[in-house]
Formats: sequence, C-alpha cells, structure tokens
Amino acid sequence: MGNILIVKNPATGKVIKEVKINSEEEIRQAIKIGHDSFEKWKKVSAHERSRLLTNWSRIIQEHKDEIAEIMTLENGKPLSESRGEVDYATSYIDWYAEEAKRIYGRTVPASSETKRIVVSKQPIGLVAAITPWNFPAAMMTRKAAPALAAGCPFIVKPAAETPLTTMKLIELAHEAGIPTDVIQYVNGSGSVVGKMFTSSEYIRKITFTGSTPIGKQLIKESAETIKHVTMELGGHAPLIIAEDADLDFAVAQTMITKFRNAGQTCVCANRIIVHENIAEAFSEKLAKEARNLKVGNGLDKDTQVGPIINEKGFEKIVAQINDAVKKGAEVLAGNRYNADKDQGYFFVYPTVLTNVKPDMVIMQEETFGPVAPIITFRTLEEAVEIANSTPYGLAAYFFTNNYKTGTYLHDHLDFGIIGWNDGAPSGAHIPFGGMKESGLGREGGIEGIEPYLETKYLSIGNL
Ligand code: SIN
Repeated sequence: MGNILIVKNPATGKVIKEVKINSEEEIRQAIKIGHDSFEKWKKVSAHERSRLLTNWSRIIQEHKDEIAEIMTLENGKPLSESRGEVDYATSYIDWYAEEAKRIYGRTVPASSETKRIVVSKQPIGLVAAITPWNFPAAMMTRKAAPALAAGCPFIVKPAAETPLTTMKLIELAHEAGIPTDVIQYVNGSGSVVGKMFTSSEYIRKITFTGSTPIGKQLIKESAETIKHVTMELGGHAPLIIAEDADLDFAVAQTMITKFRNAGQTCVCANRIIVHENIAEAFSEKLAKEARNLKVGNGLDKDTQVGPIINEKGFEKIVAQINDAVKKGAEVLAGNRYNADKDQGYFFVYPTVLTNVKPDMVIMQEETFGPVAPIITFRTLEEAVEIANSTPYGLAAYFFTNNYKTGTYLHDHLDFGIIGWNDGAPSGAHIPFGGMKESGLGREGGIEGIEPYLETKYLSIGNL
C-alpha cells in the first residue's frame, strides 16, 4: 500500500485521487487527541450536542449533489442511489440529534425505606469505527451520530476503496461546529488500523460494519482490553414467496432488495425461495425485469446498476454463477459481463438463476452481487429450513397476504430484520442488526444509542 491510497473509479478503473495514508505515529496521536477530548465533549449539554448534529445534517444537505458525485465516483453506485444515501446518512444524524435529549435514567424502588436507588447513563468514552465501501456515508453517520449524541468522541477509518465521502462528511462536521478533536478520521490498511484501535486502552468501543471473518478478528482482539463492540457483519438474506403472494408486488420488491447497489449490500436478498406452484411465473417476471435494468457508469443518468467494487468481488460472483450452472442451474437472465482486468472495471449484468439446489455455493456463501438464485419449496417448514440453514441471521423477507403464514414465518425465521411484504425495511428509526454470525448489537432506533452508554447505579443509604 505504501503511504498513498489510490482511490479509483470502479466504473472506469481510472484514478480519482491519491490520499495520504496516516503513519502509525499519526494514528496513535489521533487516538490520544480523541481520548483527551472526552472530558470536554461529555460536559457539552445534550441540547448543544443536538444543535451541533442538526447543523451538521443541514450542511451535508446543502452539499448533497457534491457528496453524491464523490460517492458515485469512488463507489460506482448510480447517482440517484448516492443522493438517496445522502438522505439516508442525514436521517441518522437527525434521529440522534433528537435522541441526545432523551438519554434518560430511572429511579428504582429500594428494598428499604432508608435507601434510594438512582440509575443514570454516561457516555462510554472514545469510540472507534471501521466502515465499509458499500455505504460510505450512511454507515459512518449511523455510528458517528449516536456516539456524538451520547457524548462520546469519534474516530473512523473508512474503507480503503471509498475514503473520500467520509473525509468530506467529517470536514463538514467541523464546519458545523463539532470540534476537530471530537470527530476525526484516519486512513490506512484495515489490519494495521484495526489492530491499533483494538489494542488501544484509550478506545472504549469498536463499531464495525463489514465481513464476518474480520468482525470475529476484531472481537477477539478487543477482548484484550474488554472493549464494547457493535458488529454489523455479513448476511445471506432469504426471500420467501408464499403461494398466495401478490406476484407483481413481490417481483417489484425483490427487484429493489436484490439489485440496489448492484447487489452489494448486507441485507440484499440472496436466496429467493419460491413456492413450487408459482415458481415459473415468478421467475419469468423477475427475469424480464432484470433484463431491463440498465447497467453502466453511475454518473450516466439512466444507469440503474453500477460496477462491482473490485476484481476480488467480481471473481467471487462469477465463481458462484459458474458453480451453480455447472451443478444444473438454468440462466434466465444475465450471466453476462463487461470486465477489463487491465483497465480495472468489472460489471455483472443482473442474473436470474432457476433450478437452484441447496448444495450450490451460491446458497451457502454471501454473494455481494446482482445475482438472484431461485430455489423452490413445497411446505412452509421446508422454506424455513432452507432460510435458516446458513450461519447468517441479518435480514429475511417474505411475501404473503395470509396472516397465519406471515405469523408462522415471523416466529420461525432466525433473523434480526424481517420484511413482510417489504423489500426495503431499513431506516434510521429501526434497530438494524443481525443474529447468529451476522453480528452483535443494533444500530438505529432507540436501541442504537444504548451501546454508546454505560449504566451507573447509585444506592443512597442511611436516609
Ligand atoms: C448494509 O448493507 O450494510 C446496510 C444496508 C442498509 O442499511 O440498508
């Protein structure tokens, strides 16, 4: 990596910018500065922290087009999605600007009349975040906003592929009046910075969005200093379509969850599990829609599906498709590519596969690409068994208008986020997070500020 990070446009392979990689000494200093700012920041009133966050959100919105363009250039997603992500990012800041004022304690009836019990909340201390390239704005604000609202200073290492969006957002945070020592970024390789974060006694919490193997590594390393962790890790979302579902609606919602961000989201539907009596009709409709999607450079205004972030991601998707086809899957759409290794761009056309079987790699490993494998089921028990059969438990979707079927699926699916007739359940107001190897803790909603707070209990005696 040297001491320069070369940020490239994944749609063209061209260099956008060179960014300085921070030295270990600079990272150590940034951590110390963040830690030293805690005494000051935690004393800023909740109302003032709220005001500063609101300022930040407003200033980001004033720069919406500029940020969206940076995001599309470094991530590749269509401009309309980048604009949507700027809104998604500020929705977290707005939500936590309000929650800052609602960090309540409580009193508990004591066991004797000579005592009083008071429970209060205090900020945990310096928070370090490691954020992903697939949502360079929203995954940062989803962590920074509750941390700052709670009274914690914040330091982030953005993904090496997409540092520019984060750098811009933090520049705007400073412009909004949030002190420069209270919110900072550092650039570097994940393994170096991650290790420095996890081993520092100044950092009290690590919050990470990324792959399950890296999450496990960070949890292990954080054990040394007993840090709090929030982990939003991999997913392999099932999407079940019951026999009674409204097919056109289910197809439209599947298109949203499957092809948003070229299928490069942790919550996108990766295993489409359709009742055998409607599988053919559903598959044909989905394939027709998928074939109509416009693939290209996110800066072109008609583009609906952008590039894959890099060669490694591309190779994984192609290998999964090839494995499925080799084992008998049929291609209804896609399995087409526009890739040039020398230039450094990789596009995968939206792909729909039928006749998919549980032993195919695509049914077991997270895809992170625009591929919709369709497998059939006969009974609901069978659908649940397929859905729950991986180590992941982030998001699941099902489509039915029968309340008994819906209630059964809700009760039996082991996932943190469930969309019932809803392919887009994300939002700042909801608790986002997974079960099993998809993570620990929740981000968003009233739950999302709790991980940045310590609970302190006071017992007053001799009254
Ligand atoms: C993710 O893919 O990590 C986040 C997606 C979302 O917030 O909807």
